[in-house]
Amino acid sequence: WDNGLAKTPPMGWNSWNIFHENINETQIKQIADAMVSSGMKDAGYIYLNLDDNWMANPARDSNGFLISDPKRFPSGIKALADYVHAKGLKLGIYGDRGTMTCANVPQSGSKGYEDRDAKTFASWGIDYLKYDNCNIPNGSDMKTDYQKMQTALANCGRPIVFSICAWEYQNWMPATGNVWRTTRDIVDKWDATGHPYGFVGIINSIDQNSKYTNSAGPGAWNDPDMLEIGNGGCTTEEYRTQMSMWCMMASPLLAGNDIRNMTQATKDILMNREVIAVNQDPAGKQGYRVKSSNGNEVWVKPLADGTKAVALLNRNSSTSTIAVNWSDIGITGSAVVRDLWAKADKGTFNGSYSASVPSHGTVVLKISSGPVATPTPAQTPTPAPTPVP
Ligand code: DGJ
Repeated sequence: WDNGLAKTPPMGWNSWNIFHENINETQIKQIADAMVSSGMKDAGYIYLNLDDNWMANPARDSNGFLISDPKRFPSGIKALADYVHAKGLKLGIYGDRGTMTCANVPQSGSKGYEDRDAKTFASWGIDYLKYDNCNIPNGSDMKTDYQKMQTALANCGRPIVFSICAWEYQNWMPATGNVWRTTRDIVDKWDATGHPYGFVGIINSIDQNSKYTNSAGPGAWNDPDMLEIGNGGCTTEEYRTQMSMWCMMASPLLAGNDIRNMTQATKDILMNREVIAVNQDPAGKQGYRVKSSNGNEVWVKPLADGTKAVALLNRNSSTSTIAVNWSDIGITGSAVVRDLWAKADKGTFNGSYSASVPSHGTVVLKISSGPVATPTPAQTPTPAPTPVP
């Protein structure tokens, strides 16, 4: 949606993956504090997004306005937004296109209340809305419902990033939202094939999200769901792959762990500035797979400065050596290679570069092609022949 927002993929934190429905004001303020003290804010994570279950039960007052839970959010959402804004962060909130959110709290859905709810959010100082897809009355049309909220947000008087949470891609989404889910919910696993609700692991999300490469660009991003980095169900290599590939695919980077206490390994993954710069590249191109053989993959993301980010992804259960050929990524001659996880310049290479990649791991490179050929010195013009008298 070209509303001037999310020119690069949104970065922040969301409460769902770690806290689910158990959220409250004290804990969320601590998260805001931790976003600053941990360095997450300085690394670019700006949005603090509440997910499901911030509302009262029932969710509306006697005049039909949404209200927060008086026990868990006693100061109200406006006060929370003020707190978050004072730290230089932005506050996101969560709603639903049906009659109730997925938490099934009476009156929590925005169906028929789109304008009023968008204005309420604006009056509180909300900066981001994740709009879910539960409890849909018969006869509702998904596109119509999301477009109603889009119009409501456009008219609410405040810039609010619009996140469509409909668990699948449809071709009207890039014009309707700033981000849209391409998958069902992520779980904290490498591979969740066979999950009863079709929920996805890291590698499944990558496969589904990569089907829609050409739909992404500034203001409009494919969303393979939030990060599980630091939540404990995957190996460090697997989490590094999630970060690498979310950055290669220009996906929103919404941390989903308890950032009040992170291990150094988690911090190193979430706050690698060079890998984040691949995600935030102003050209806004979603990276894509250029080669796949026996579970070894090469991906490329063309960057605004003419260089290429390249990911070498190993889906196998043992270490692989993976090579990127310059011909696979559209460069010729010699090129300079930097490894963004090792934070090391690897040197100048002709034609290809290969690296050893651990099981389920990813190596991310930045490749700058050198001069294609030595430029020919300027020619002295041949003097015109002297006319023979
Ligand atoms: C379904 C969404 O896909 C999740 O990300 C989360 O928002 C839950 N609903 C909350 O109920």
